[in-house]
Amino acid sequence: MSDVLISPSILSADFAALGQAVADVDRAGADMIHVDVMDGHYVPNITIGPAVVKALRPHSAKPFDVHLMIAPADPYLEAFVEAGADYLSIHPDASPHTHRSLQTIRALGAKPGLVLNPGTPLSVVEPVIDLLDMILVMSVNPGFGGQSFIDSQLVKIEALRVMIDATGRDIVLEVDGGVNPETAPRCIAAGASALVAGSAVFKGAGSLSDNIAALRSAPA
Ligand code: DX5
Ligand code: ZN
Repeated sequence: MSDVLISPSILSADFAALGQAVADVDRAGADMIHVDVMDGHYVPNITIGPAVVKALRPHSAKPFDVHLMIAPADPYLEAFVEAGADYLSIHPDASPHTHRSLQTIRALGAKPGLVLNPGTPLSVVEPVIDLLDMILVMSVNPGFGGQSFIDSQLVKIEALRVMIDATGRDIVLEVDGGVNPETAPRCIAAGASALVAGSAVFKGAGSLSDNIAALRSAPA
């Protein structure tokens, strides 16, 4: 059993009962709640906004891990922090001044995260690593749940583990997309400290708690 953090993505939950879904995964052993925010512009899908995050906030005391797939991100940072985001992660190509946006998230009182798409080079991390509490590696192209894990991202995870360890700081290294009991151990072996899973948690074979446990304990 690894001590990796599991952050279920409510993108795969029943949108007619999101509050219940948040409470259910909390009770089932989730460490964080992953909220996918999409604007139909940065990604070809539209999901939820700050009003929904605010409405969900009372349903769990676990950290809300809010993944912004919106461009521009800057005009909405404050609204998402006020709504209850603990971690607030942005894509570098969704902000003209990534460094400033990360500083803003910190100043608002949340933990800043940077998200790397499968096609985003590692080099974007180095200039801002001191500002980060989370690095989120996309192992699918963002926009939809239920896609297949892109193996080439494992090398990126390994390289980020080295970079993070060199800082001596506790930066969460999270993997998002196509994470299931087969791919989870590979992410953990590469150095991930947190895993996002939508389909594997909400549409997996077992109960929510079995599905979450399966991600922690899957054999390598
Ligand atoms: C994709 C989202 C993911 C997605 C993961 O853009 O960022 O969080 O919900 O879903 P699965 O686990 O089904 O790949
Ligand atoms: Zn996500």
